[in-house]
Amino acid sequence: MNIKWLSSVIDQNLIAEIQSALSQNGRHLDCYKSLEELEDKLPNKEDVLLVLPSNPAYDVYELCERISFLFPLVSIVLLEAKDQMDWKRAMQAKAIDLLEWPISVDSFVQTIEDLEKRIVTRLIKLQPYNKAHKDGKVITVVSTKGGVGKTTTSVNLAAAFGLQGKRVVLVDLDLQFGDVAISFNAKPKKTIYEWVKQEYENENSGLQDYLISVTENVAILAAPLRPELAESIEGEHVSQLIAELKQAYDLIIIDTPPLLVETVLVALDLSDEILLITALDLPTLKNSKICVETFDLLKLKEKIKVIINKDSQIGGLMAKNVEQVLNMPVYARIPSDFKTAVFSLNSGVPFVLSHAKSPLAKQVTALAKKLNGIDPLEEKQRKFWGRWFKTS
Ligand SMILES: Nc1ncnc2c1ncn2[C@@H]1O[C@H](COP(=O)(O)OP(=O)(O)OP(=O)(O)O)[C@@H](O)[C@H]1O
Ligand SMILES: [Mg+2]
Repeated sequence: MNIKWLSSVIDQNLIAEIQSALSQNGRHLDCYKSLEELEDKLPNKEDVLLVLPSNPAYDVYELCERISFLFPLVSIVLLEAKDQMDWKRAMQAKAIDLLEWPISVDSFVQTIEDLEKRIVTRLIKLQPYNKAHKDGKVITVVSTKGGVGKTTTSVNLAAAFGLQGKRVVLVDLDLQFGDVAISFNAKPKKTIYEWVKQEYENENSGLQDYLISVTENVAILAAPLRPELAESIEGEHVSQLIAELKQAYDLIIIDTPPLLVETVLVALDLSDEILLITALDLPTLKNSKICVETFDLLKLKEKIKVIINKDSQIGGLMAKNVEQVLNMPVYARIPSDFKTAVFSLNSGVPFVLSHAKSPLAKQVTALAKKLNGIDPLEEKQRKFWGRWFKTS
């Protein structure tokens, strides 16, 4: 990996320290002293990581946008003061990460190592939409109660899987009022409705033009742009859609409305896992119980994983109550954090990206790992020993 830095006078000492720390790990950091030099010399290559620190001389987000336009293959990471950090603009400018400035040498080097892994994985995964070589896993997120956090969980789970190097597609089956696109600040022109009308009904299956790439490794298929269009989409379309997507993605995540309509039932039937989102209030719990009973009748119960969202008593008694009422184990608990959840929703950036260190993001990331079969304890031990036996 080629690491480049657009430097200024104030960065000099820090850069020297970082260069020395990176060189101990066999990495090399080059500096450009001016923007002209950068634009002149920056190689437009996939293995280049450019660090852009903010500077009163320019708007770092505008600069990032310009450089990503001129050098589309380069990965850019931004350094910005805490009170100026703007994830929405960073994403729009196609930065791959936004780090708080000032930063310690250790955390910078650690971040560079993590980013390198992400970039390498992305290079492997960034093949074009490519059919017939996968058998993706289908995960549908449900709850017959509105507002419990299905969309929040789907969106952040998709982003977390993407960060873990999985190729993910998130399908918005909340066909009337879906808000997956808005959660990623995406403005779709083509949706599942256009796919049905333009492709499916003409006996074509091409999906690529209808998917929107939103974050690293993650694409979405948006819900129709108007509620009245929803009724054109039927179970047979969902079935075909899932079959197509399974061939091209590692994971197909499906967000649903709070109703067991035909399209949702087809998705549930074709799912490998069903995440039943519940909460610690009686109406939701009552609803979840009916849901479990219904899934039992439909022979879907085996696939259910119960997730408590907006959990306000981690370690308390209430999760036990959920297990007693549903007669099922609780698979994961996601804490209640209204501020982070709403901020992320309004900014159009999943909190696993914008607030990666918050307990909320950590739990969703842990859930993604658990669904991927990664035990957090084992991972911790592996990382610990990996550090001692590092070879390069
Ligand atoms: N863990 C959480 N902590 C606090 N607030 C949360 C959490 N998860 C979701 N929310 C908030 O709850 C509200 C509803 O979330 P969301 O839209 O994800 O629910 P939903 O189940 O998809 O709703 P609907 O059934 O209407 O589609 C949003 O304002 C969201 O920000
Ligand atoms: Mg929703």
